[in-house]
Amino acid sequence: MTLPDTDSAERRRPLVVAIDGPAASGKSSTAKWVASELGFRHVDSGALYRAATAAALRAEPDPRRWTEDGVLAAAAIVTLVPGERSFEARLEGAPAEEELRGSAVTSAVSLVAKMPRVRAWVNDRVRAAAEGHAVVVDGRDMGTAVFPKARVKIFLVADPWERAKRRLLQRFERLPTEAEIAEETDALVRRDAKDEAQTQRASEAVLIDTTYLTQREQVERIVALARSVMR
Ligand code: DC
Repeated sequence: MTLPDTDSAERRRPLVVAIDGPAASGKSSTAKWVASELGFRHVDSGALYRAATAAALRAEPDPRRWTEDGVLAAAAIVTLVPGERSFEARLEGAPAEEELRGSAVTSAVSLVAKMPRVRAWVNDRVRAAAEGHAVVVDGRDMGTAVFPKARVKIFLVADPWERAKRRLLQRFERLPTEAEIAEETDALVRRDAKDEAQTQRASEAVLIDTTYLTQREQVERIVALARSVMR
């Protein structure tokens, strides 16, 4: 009997580039850009946690009343729709980007992300999206729980102050004040603590500290790594 050669099977399947890291480390925007450079599709796993949370909020506005079964039942309205270069999480078939990024979802999503069967629900959808198409996936556990055999694994980190500053620049479209950055840094550190158990760095992941890198530099490094394994 010959055993399947899983390494060569992995080499034949479409490439998975897994990008993990804490909140506001630039994962999603970097992953999107990398996917477009490589001609892959981008899958944002955090958007699925956010979509399940938004669906739960529509069904029951008080998170204290949520149960895992209730959240899973509410999440039946979530679909992950493929586009040219990405997948979009929709609610009842309609785009809901603003709702997904809003403060109600942001403050309740960590609760949902701790539910094991919700994690399995997200992971099934992310893996299905990667069937038959090369992908760049981003989240907290893409290189560990979801794609342990991904051939490119990246873990992005950045100083909390810098992450807070980038997030506010994006939100306000102006330079934030020191006080604003300090307040946002506190909020980010609190979120990091809530998500800590779910944020896993694969031992073989390439660590990229983006504190002093431009986004173009981060993208170039990841694209170069992916191209080196595609040869
Ligand atoms: O990356 P984000 O802020 O959109 O993530 C939203 C939430 O989902 C956050 O609480 C972390 C969680 N998450 C997770 O636990 N595992 C993932 N693979 C992706 C996100």
